[in-house]
Amino acid sequence: MYYPEHIIETIRERSDIVALISEYTTLTRKGSSYTGLCPFHNEKTPSFSVSEDKQLYYCFGCGAGGNTITFLMQKENMTFPEAIKYLAERENIQLEDHYQSEEEMHRNQKKQLLFEVIKDAAKFFYLSLRDERHNQVLEYLITRGVLTDSLKQFGLGYSPAEYNTLYKHLSAKGYSDQTLLESGLFLTSKNGGFIYDRFASRIMFPIFDVSKKVIGFGGRVIDGGMPKYLNSPENILFNKSNVLYGLNFAKTANSECYILVEGYMDVIAMHQAGFTQTVASLGTAFTASHAKLLKRYTKEVVIMYDSDNAGVNATLRALPILRSQGIKARVLLLKDGKDPDEYLRKYGKEHLFKLLEEAQPDIMFEISRIEQKYDIQIAEQKVMFLQEVANRISEIPSSIEQAIYIDEICAAYHIENSAFKAEVNNNYKKLKHVYKAKENEGGAKSRRQSVSTEVIFLSTLYHYPNIIRHVRKHVEPEMFESPLLCDLSRAIFQAAEQGEDIDMNYFTAHYPDEADQNIISHIIMNKDKRYEEQTILFKMITENIKRLKGNYLGKKMNDSKDANEKQKLLFQKKELDKLYIDFING
Ligand code: UTP
Ligand code: MN
Repeated sequence: MYYPEHIIETIRERSDIVALISEYTTLTRKGSSYTGLCPFHNEKTPSFSVSEDKQLYYCFGCGAGGNTITFLMQKENMTFPEAIKYLAERENIQLEDHYQSEEEMHRNQKKQLLFEVIKDAAKFFYLSLRDERHNQVLEYLITRGVLTDSLKQFGLGYSPAEYNTLYKHLSAKGYSDQTLLESGLFLTSKNGGFIYDRFASRIMFPIFDVSKKVIGFGGRVIDGGMPKYLNSPENILFNKSNVLYGLNFAKTANSECYILVEGYMDVIAMHQAGFTQTVASLGTAFTASHAKLLKRYTKEVVIMYDSDNAGVNATLRALPILRSQGIKARVLLLKDGKDPDEYLRKYGKEHLFKLLEEAQPDIMFEISRIEQKYDIQIAEQKVMFLQEVANRISEIPSSIEQAIYIDEICAAYHIENSAFKAEVNNNYKKLKHVYKAKENEGGAKSRRQSVSTEVIFLSTLYHYPNIIRHVRKHVEPEMFESPLLCDLSRAIFQAAEQGEDIDMNYFTAHYPDEADQNIISHIIMNKDKRYEEQTILFKMITENIKRLKGNYLGKKMNDSKDANEKQKLLFQKKELDKLYIDFING
């Protein structure tokens, strides 16, 4: 979908970059800008800066930079149109009908309405948990160790036991039966005669999407009723395989390694204990969509499912799914205590912290499971076991990793290193061509870009505009090779002449690319204080003019076929060497 410039301008003008980024990191005002810990890399002292009036961010540590749109593209893996849509929705900007199909518009209106219904329901549940008539429900949660702060943070609630309190409440607010039924919160009696609350008499866990909107619920019985948990049915808001419980909080933890658990209560207990990077897939198997979602935020995951058979099997199924998305996985199987929630209550967070550090690499966990299929006291079975292990090891693409595991296994099972290696290599050769093919599928894109000297040069001109009148005699915008830098230099020159700032709208609309926005941010946000010292400034400017103009003239000489012109260009190029003196003399 193509969005015209004025739409992008409106979005840029109306969206509040400080509010947006504050959802990911704490920003504090410092002069004309805001600073905080960078949400793109791990750091202890803030090197991340946000400019409210320029609507740009920039990290002096890792070089990440851009505007609200690129921020969402980088942090939430959104495409450009997705980011535009997201911001428009956030700021209540109506993307003109023209840019939405009839169907899309209808769907969006319906979504909006359902969001409202769900939000009203969440409020209703929240308040009824605090109603003294339901004191024993609150007691139950508190006895289970849920702290008041967590009740609030996770928005826990209660759906009263009477069969239609929520229905009455929402009907009175004016929602139609049809809308209410679409929300998934209600059921109709068999004969269709009446509508009743699906979750009556359950503790309610609101499920948030990554932008912190409630999209559905999980409801837990308090007595031993069945089923123990009930989840909202899928609808246009709620798709189980696209949501991870706790991710809306986890993503602000900015952790390098996420923790994957099974249940609602586990997530809450873990967050409470400070492991705020914990998420759960909800009463459903972990899917590739979950892995893709996680990949937006992390490269590594520790799986900490229940230690029963079901948990172990679910772990074994999740591992290849994580790997297939390029996420490194480790496993922590809690030996004592069924799930993380119980474990934390029994042994405390320090203990769990230690265990997490020692979580097994995925391969070692898988091998320990393979071992259980064999009786390795019997020689024949040990051979089969080791062959299966060798087979597994040969699937690891990195030979360094292979070597590490081979050493570990040989030590653990008392076998000759070279023999085992040979077994692995035999398998590995068979597989090699498969890896080659995989490597060639789409090259990895890296966020970090090395900053060119031209970018640094332009940044200096932007931040020290007084120098521009000297530079102008020697430098033309055309001398910059990239269209962006050519455009930027023109804008910087013009802005300096007219004593204004450059028109950021133009650049947002014309250079929506992440890489381009990163360059723009670098130039505008990155003022190098070293150049406050005049001599250093002059030196750097001189050097850059020489290089830029030198390259430009050189290229022209190469292209030119006219001997006279070549001569002239050569002369100009030689003159450049004397630039320093000219420069000082004005
Ligand atoms: P568990 O049975 O392990 O429950 O199910 P739990 O999370 O530890 O909860 P408590 O401690 O008994 O209160 C793990 C997850 O599986 C899903 C839920 O998401 C639950 O959190 N589940 C479980 C269901 O969807 N339906 C069920 O009937 C049971
Ligand atoms: Mn539990």
